[in-house]
This record gives sequence, C-alpha cells and structure tokens, in this order.
Amino acid sequence: MKELLEKIYFTEEDIKKRISELGQDITEAYKEHDEITVISIINGALYFTIDILRNINIPIRLDCIRVSSYHNKSQSNKEPEIIDSIRLDLKDRHVLLIDDILDTGHTISLVYDHIKQCHPSSLLTCILLDKKRRRTVPFKSDFVGFKIPDKFVVGYGLDYAERYRNLPCIGSLKTELLGSI
Ligand code: IMP
Ligand code: MG
Repeated sequence: MKELLEKIYFTEEDIKKRISELGQDITEAYKEHDEITVISIINGALYFTIDILRNINIPIRLDCIRVSSYHNKSQSNKEPEIIDSIRLDLKDRHVLLIDDILDTGHTISLVYDHIKQCHPSSLLTCILLDKKRRRTVPFKSDFVGFKIPDKFVVGYGLDYAERYRNLPCIGSLKTELLGSI
C-alpha cells in the first residue's frame, strides 16, 4: 500500500518510538492521580489512542466521541458537529482528550468546550500531529507527537474519504489519487 504515497513523513518505527516517549510524558504528568479518563475523537484517533494507551502506566477509563469533520474529503469543515457524544460521567475526573491531528482547530475546540461543560477536575489534550500553519481557532495541545507542514496526510488512522486508515505509516497521497474518490 505504501506505493500509494507520494511522500512518507513518519514511518511505523518513527510513530512507535514517539508514542512510547509520549506515553512516558503522560504517565509522568498524571503520576499523582489514581486514574484518568481518556476521551478519543473517532474515527481518526482510533489507532493512536490504542497505541498510546498501551504506553500509559495508570488505570484508564475510556470513552469515544464522534464528530463530523469533512464535508468534502480533504478540506477541514469549519463547523464540525458532535454526532455521538460521551457516555461516561466526567465531573471531577481527570480527563485527557486525544485526537489524531490538529488542523484548523475547530474540532478539538468544540470537543474541549463540550467536556469543560461537564466540569472535569482537569482537562489536558494529546494529539499525534500538529499542522500549526493551518490554525484558524487558537489552540495549543499539551502533548504533541509530531509537527507537520500544511499537507494532507493519510495513514495510521487518518483517512481520505474513509480510505487508507490502515496504512502503517503517515504520508501524503499521490496527487492522482486525490479527487479520484
Ligand atoms: P480541524 O477541525 O480543522 O482541526 O480538523 C481536525 C480533523 O480533521 C482531524 O480530527 C482529522 O480527522 C481531520 N484532518 C485534518 N487534517 C487532516 C489530514 O491531513 N488528513 C486526514 N484528516 C485530517
Ligand atoms: Mg478526526
């Protein structure tokens, strides 16, 4: 499947190594706490969430939230909506919000504000990729895997029209594939 990519930004090994470091940082940040509640924004953050949770050495409660993100396949939707919300109670909990990629900032801000309304004791965020240049809503994540340039990428959970999530690495699609679905 790698032949579908124009450029590989992060290999499977790069991702594995960085996630292990992030897991240690998160474990350290929460070391005074008995438990954390992780909220994962699906589908994009599925792969990242599963691997990062294996690297966090603290008991975890896990829930997912589903947000509509793209109307057309490679441009971020300015007004995402929560289409399936959290079931766990978050009041007085230490919450860690996980997403795959921080692009314009609309998605994570929406979910962040939604969680805040549930009165958690604390709320931190962790993202795998930061496309800082594209930000239109100011947002800074507490934990960041990698910074990437303003390129549309797929793999390791990231999709183009729901395809290519199962690529083990992260890269940009060949231009002839963009627009072909
Ligand atoms: P934002 O609301 O613009 O920050 O967009 C965030 C969401 O858009 C992420 O959760 C991703 O699902 C999706 N997204 C943003 N950039 C990319 C990309 O390069 N590839 C795949 N999905 C992306
Ligand atoms: Mg997403």
